[in-house]
Amino acid sequence: MINHPTGDGVKPLSHIAFIMDGNGRWAKKRGMPREYGHTIGAGTFRKIAEYCFRQNIGTVTVYAFSTENWKRPKQEVDSIMRILDSYIKLGMAEMAKDNVRIRFLGDKSPLSDSLRREMLELEEKSAANKYALNIAVNYGGRAELVNAVNRLVSSGEKELNEDMISSALYTAGQPDPDLIVRTGGEMRLSNFLTWQSVYSELYFTDVLWPDLTERDIDLAAENYYNRQRRFGGV
Ligand code: FPP
Repeated sequence: MINHPTGDGVKPLSHIAFIMDGNGRWAKKRGMPREYGHTIGAGTFRKIAEYCFRQNIGTVTVYAFSTENWKRPKQEVDSIMRILDSYIKLGMAEMAKDNVRIRFLGDKSPLSDSLRREMLELEEKSAANKYALNIAVNYGGRAELVNAVNRLVSSGEKELNEDMISSALYTAGQPDPDLIVRTGGEMRLSNFLTWQSVYSELYFTDVLWPDLTERDIDLAAENYYNRQRRFGGV
């Protein structure tokens, strides 16, 4: 359970974002193909997202597929797309019924027609729900910024400011992430939420994504609030 402290200088944990790394290594350790790691990782995604919402974190973002991930072998790309497809039809559709608003961050245009249609339908159907779940698919932070600036320029804007750029991003209207958690031991952001992460606290763990538990979320939140307590209000 997360104990959300209140008080001066404490910024409540209202948006948590995850770089779900380590699926391939998790599978390899078990002598299984990388795709198996993604299948189990998808289950972890749902368990962790639902736990965060139960703990009153209003916005959860996950990095499911980056603009760079197309470089992976076709078989692996296809399997991630298949997992996404089946999750949209089942898991995410159920979450949408549980008051979760689903938004896909990224450029949908290179995705298959059927996947794109399902994504749009789910976004529309869940638009009025309370909790926000962002799934970054074919997402890159730099591409998002270039796309935002191009849209503003082509709508006739001559001089841009920060608010205009924030409102032209895929995350328009949402709070920036307070905490970004990366599993799998690497310590970098890999083109994730480039604009939105400038003030985010970063938490890195060696735990591989499929092994991540509710307890790990509690620890990350505790770490976040300890930093807040040490520096808040000074
Ligand atoms: C990174 O681990 C993981 C990915 C690139 C894919 C993540 C996809 C899923 C969890 C499944 C689909 C998502 C949803 C939201 C249903 P890696 O493959 O780079 O692992 P490694 O570093 O051990 O090789």
